[in-house]
Amino acid sequence: MANPRVTHYHLVLLPICLLTTVMLQVVISAENLVQLPIIVSPIHYRLTLLPILEDNSRLCGHVWIDVKARSETNIILLHSSELKILKTIVLPLSPDVNERATQYRSEDDVAVENLCFNSAVYHDSAMDHSNIALDHHLDGQKQYLSIVLGEPLKKGAYYRIGLLFTGNIYEDNTGFFRAKYEVGGETDCCKRTVAATQLEAIQARKMFPCIDEPDKKATFQLTVGHFFALKAINNMPLKSSAPMATVEHWVWDTFETTPAMSTYLVACVLTEFGHVETVYHSISGKDVPIRLWTHRHRLAHLDFALNLIPKALERLEDYTGIPYSLPKLDVIALPGYEEGKAMENWGLIIHSEMNLLVDETTDSIDKSIVAATIVHELAHQWIGNLVSATSWDDIWLNEGLTTLMESFILEQVASDLEHESVMLVFLQEVMRSDLLSTQFPLSAPASSYPTADEKFDVISYAKGAAIFRMARSFVGPEAFQSAIRRYLTKLQFSSANSTDMWNMINQEARRTHTISGRMSVARIMKTWTQQPGYPLVHVHRGKNGILHISQRPFKSEDVPAIDNATMAISASWWVPISMTNGEQRKFSPKDLLPVAWLSPRKPSMEFQGTMGDNTWVLVNQQAGNYYRVNYDKQNWDLLSQQLMRNHTVIPFITRSQLVDDAFVLGHAKIITYDVALDMIRYLSNTNDDLLIRRVAQSHIQFIEGTSENAIKNPEREKLIRSMSSYLNRDRKSRMAKMSTNDLRDLSTGDCDVGDGQCVNKALLLFQAFTSGSTLPEDDKSVNSDSTWCAAIRHGSNSEWDFAWNMTRSSELQSSLVRRKMLKAMCCTTDSIHSKQLLTRVLHPNIKQRPKDTSMIMNRLIKNPSARPIALNFMLSNFAFLNKHFRNPSVTSELLTAFAKHSYSSEELEKVRAFVMNNSNELEAGGVNRILAAVRNNLFWLELTSDNFRGALHSDNK
Ligand SMILES: *[C@@H]1O[C@H](CO)[C@@H](O)[C@H](O)[C@H]1NC(C)=O
Ligand SMILES: *[C@@H]1O[C@H](CO)[C@@H](O)[C@H](O)[C@H]1NC(C)=O
Ligand SMILES: *[C@@H]1O[C@H](CO)[C@@H](O)[C@H](O)[C@H]1NC(C)=O
Ligand SMILES: *[C@@H]1O[C@H](CO)[C@@H](O)[C@H](O)[C@H]1NC(C)=O
Repeated sequence: MANPRVTHYHLVLLPICLLTTVMLQVVISAENLVQLPIIVSPIHYRLTLLPILEDNSRLCGHVWIDVKARSETNIILLHSSELKILKTIVLPLSPDVNERATQYRSEDDVAVENLCFNSAVYHDSAMDHSNIALDHHLDGQKQYLSIVLGEPLKKGAYYRIGLLFTGNIYEDNTGFFRAKYEVGGETDCCKRTVAATQLEAIQARKMFPCIDEPDKKATFQLTVGHFFALKAINNMPLKSSAPMATVEHWVWDTFETTPAMSTYLVACVLTEFGHVETVYHSISGKDVPIRLWTHRHRLAHLDFALNLIPKALERLEDYTGIPYSLPKLDVIALPGYEEGKAMENWGLIIHSEMNLLVDETTDSIDKSIVAATIVHELAHQWIGNLVSATSWDDIWLNEGLTTLMESFILEQVASDLEHESVMLVFLQEVMRSDLLSTQFPLSAPASSYPTADEKFDVISYAKGAAIFRMARSFVGPEAFQSAIRRYLTKLQFSSANSTDMWNMINQEARRTHTISGRMSVARIMKTWTQQPGYPLVHVHRGKNGILHISQRPFKSEDVPAIDNATMAISASWWVPISMTNGEQRKFSPKDLLPVAWLSPRKPSMEFQGTMGDNTWVLVNQQAGNYYRVNYDKQNWDLLSQQLMRNHTVIPFITRSQLVDDAFVLGHAKIITYDVALDMIRYLSNTNDDLLIRRVAQSHIQFIEGTSENAIKNPEREKLIRSMSSYLNRDRKSRMAKMSTNDLRDLSTGDCDVGDGQCVNKALLLFQAFTSGSTLPEDDKSVNSDSTWCAAIRHGSNSEWDFAWNMTRSSELQSSLVRRKMLKAMCCTTDSIHSKQLLTRVLHPNIKQRPKDTSMIMNRLIKNPSARPIALNFMLSNFAFLNKHFRNPSVTSELLTAFAKHSYSSEELEKVRAFVMNNSNELEAGGVNRILAAVRNNLFWLELTSDNFRGALHSDNK
């Protein structure tokens, strides 16, 4: 589902306000994921819905479910949650498909009209004599609807279940929900309503009774009633439309029948939006109309997506060898959808506005995120929609593979964007939070989590992607692609578990001889999915080119595991060792095949290398596998010398990984910080590697931040100064040569480390903007987040006041510009300004929208100078904020973000204490997620706290 791009470019700590995304929020009790006993299999749903969106909102509906009996009981169990069932009927049905289509004609739409508008329950006595239903019961806790029958079902026979029901229209992005948006300014005159569905993970049961499990696939035909001025959109194209029998100005729209699919993918949108369209020529030979929807005066902001989608579909068809399955595609930018969220409903993809719309103020990083989200949801049309994960336990299968595909599809369709960085940041982020003692293993059953929503954590996406990336590295990209093709072809319109996936990859790997003997992909992958964490691989050079290679869990030896309940198997892995050296310099995708394996039985080995004594060796090039590597000091030195001589010999991803590993191993006191210092020395020679500068900078801040309370240590300060100087040196000459385009890319990183010229330029541009003077064409692009951010951060009160006035003004045409400015204001380092921004939500005249509040808080959380203030504000206004957001998961997410970004034990303990004392006001899953994040960072603090001197000067192990 949604793509939780949490904390992009947040690595360890990041001082600047960059993108923030709210994690997917589904509140599900794990109990509800226990599968229903298999009594009947659904075949087809004919669903009639009448959502009343305005005052006294309600949902009325009728569903016919055609099923095949699988057991001879006289009870049928379905899922149903918060629905009221008014009539139940169960009829025997012909085994013949064509006959079924004509059996029991009834006027469901009239029944639903009567129910919704006249509260009358329509009775069709014609079917009474065949009805075998006696009674029904609802179990609210289990979310079961049980239908009691007068006679047992006949195994293998067909039945049609008819249910007339009422339900709710929600406000919180679940089930069938509505959202308000503004057409003009912020006044109430111009509010409009849009309604949409969000049924993943288990919300379909809040819209209609069904068997709400991803592998219980069936075909669906939707008929939806609405006021004539709205447009109804469904997974499938419109089939027919007719006025209602009893209500003027209302119509019934009936859509074509879907292919077999899961309940969570059923979707419907009701809106007044306008659209732009294009046609995609599929490899099937068919033309697929594509329509993109947003509100009418933003249609131009869809150009970027309109251009990208057909290209991405083409690459996806090409990669999978399977045509896009539905006859059309609609994509909608939905106001009121949680920021950063997107949902891959088959044929009707829903994005939050910031994940689809692009205007002249969108900078290249935000654009990359939009592109990545678009591609992610499109990839789901195959992975997840065509072939679904059999159960929510394996949700990481869909999300991981889709996240991986996102990167290599993007590389082909939007190579100008920062797709490589996007993937890399994902990988580094997950390695930081996937610490052995604090995480669940990837494959932990959904029901073992306090709530199912935790399965949709960043671990599912990023670690899932990382281990698929590893599988692709060790079997090779061709074998991997063939396996994906077979998986999708063989299992289309059906579902699969991880074992099925590993078996397919295994067959291809054997065919191409990339694995052999007793090894199997399933056995290898289990060591990565069934335990949390990842290994540290140690590479030590012996005499005559011999390499001693060994694995151990990456954790500090003196820190005990905090939670050993989840560590089912001993912490060791099947580890593919890919390798190159200074003579071979092999970095292409097919060079990532392993030259050796470490296994749980054989965690160390000797390997005969071919390089000379003065040539560096490099393991896990291109971060193809999911582990960190440590070398002996001599090899680290050879690597840093290479970077100094010519850093481009080692590609970007590998450079970034070397720097990250060196710092992290330093934090964990496994090696000394001199290594990290050496690894970033080359940055002072080059203009490249903005992202690596940021990685390094966030690590340096981590060193500063975690030692705040320690006694003054001259050596540490000297180290920090030296490290920072490598990020800064030669800045003047670099700036002189830079074009505005470079400035755009560099301003966040470089203005931020206080570079004078960068700051001056940003201030000048901002002043030009504030005085309304027009910028030369090539400077317009600089009106980006990062320039404004630098101007606020380094400017004076006058910049701040201008920004404050601008975000107050409701006449301002574009709320997007206002929002950009609010984002920039989060860059402030002034505590008075931070307070002013935080209390904006309390201001009686401003009426700040919840989504602006959460954006502001999320950004201030990532701003070290504002974080403590934001935390105090949040804790002392918690009840108010909970009410303001109208959704307890938002406050939980914010507290999680605090816990993730804070490395102050005092702050972390404060969060922990608050959560323990107020757990009643937090959603259940939230409490655990916050506490896990607190534990993770306290664990880091323990790893890094004591004995700084030892870390600086002890010998390398
Ligand atoms: C996965 O599905 C296969 C059938 O496709 C089944 O045999 C196997 O037991 C399942 N494995 C798990 C772990 O559920
Ligand atoms: C972890 O395991 C050790 C040894 O088996 C045990 O003493 C300890 O209580 C366990 N810790 C937790 C948190 O369960
Ligand atoms: C640095 O290495 C790259 C890649 O091997 C090569 O193309 C380039 O010419 C080298 N640059 C210098 C200055 O040697
Ligand atoms: C902001 O608005 C106030 C009051 O309307 C005004 O006095 C002040 O000059 C404005 N400041 C800027 C920088 O526009």
